[in-house]
Amino acid sequence: MVWIIGANGMLGSQLCSTLSENKIDFVGTDRNVDITDFDSLKDFSGGKKITAIVNCAAYTAVDNAERDIELAQKLNADGPRNIARLAKIMGVPLIHISTDYVFDGSSTSPIGEDEPIKPLGVYGKTKAGGEKAVQEETEDFYILRTAWLYGFNGKNFVYTMIRAMNSRESVKVVSDQRGTPTNCATLARVILKIIQIRSESQLTDRKIPNGIYHVTDEGETTWFDFTNEIKKQADKKGLLTNEKCVVNPCATEDYPTPAKRPAYSVLSKKKIQQTLGIALPTWEESLSAFINSPLFDKARIQ
Ligand SMILES: NC(=O)c1ccc[n+]([C@@H]2O[C@H](COP(=O)([O-])OP(=O)(O)OC[C@H]3O[C@@H](n4cnc5c(N)ncnc54)[C@H](OP(=O)(O)O)[C@@H]3O)[C@@H](O)[C@H]2O)c1
Repeated sequence: MVWIIGANGMLGSQLCSTLSENKIDFVGTDRNVDITDFDSLKDFSGGKKITAIVNCAAYTAVDNAERDIELAQKLNADGPRNIARLAKIMGVPLIHISTDYVFDGSSTSPIGEDEPIKPLGVYGKTKAGGEKAVQEETEDFYILRTAWLYGFNGKNFVYTMIRAMNSRESVKVVSDQRGTPTNCATLARVILKIIQIRSESQLTDRKIPNGIYHVTDEGETTWFDFTNEIKKQADKKGLLTNEKCVVNPCATEDYPTPAKRPAYSVLSKKKIQQTLGIALPTWEESLSAFINSPLFDKARIQ
């Protein structure tokens, strides 16, 4: 049985659906089993036949983290340490989710797993602390760094922009940050694949080396161009009630936020694709799958 921690979150809930569709036995916990409390994690695991742990829980409010440092540290670094420590005691692999925000955005080409990290803000620093804690506590880990996530169950850029375009005459979107929008379903399928290969490994002898892997959709864009693509696809699907809304570009400095964002956070996915023998979809294909899915929550764009 797979244990999904943070199962009510945007990625966690997608992962529950993906495992359930693929008939993988799992159990999900969220705030009911507090990751900052080792004993509560340990008590929950007792008597259950857990074969792998996936940690999707985190403090993800990037701007709030700048003033909520202690809680961000607890959830993003101390919690993962507790989970990794327990995974080691239980003798099971830990799949832990991390972020492109561990990098400072100064690269100009897709960032490899081994490039030095240099987080810009509290969120990135505490997530980097979580990566370090996981590696210190257990050898059997997979740290999956992802970026620009959106999913059916959660506040995210796609819902926010469709809602904004439907209610305003114009929207301003930053055009000088590059990255890759990523559908949670892409990441959930990669996690599923790792779980499947690991569970069959005794029969197949196929191994996935432990380590850090970058997992996003393919391609790259800016928030501004992403918004234009959202507009085009939402319009095609009949989700735009105000086609006249104008999307204007702006610079990061015109849209100040408490936390600094990396200017370039395109991650190289060569390692995960070669290791698992998979091809990741482009961000445009994944956006189309999201917008055209029956699970797209129209209530979130009202
Ligand atoms: N969203 C992105 O764009 C993005 C980009 C890169 C990487 N990531 C990483 O991807 C992972 C999943 O992100 P997400 O957007 O799906 O996050 P999310 O929606 O914020 O989900 C996190 C879940 O953890 C729960 N949680 C909070 N405190 C907890 C505690 N003490 N014990 C147990 N659970 C607790 C949250 O509950 P509450 O909602 O009640 O607080 C929430 O259900 C995270 O590791 C994040 O850092 C996200």
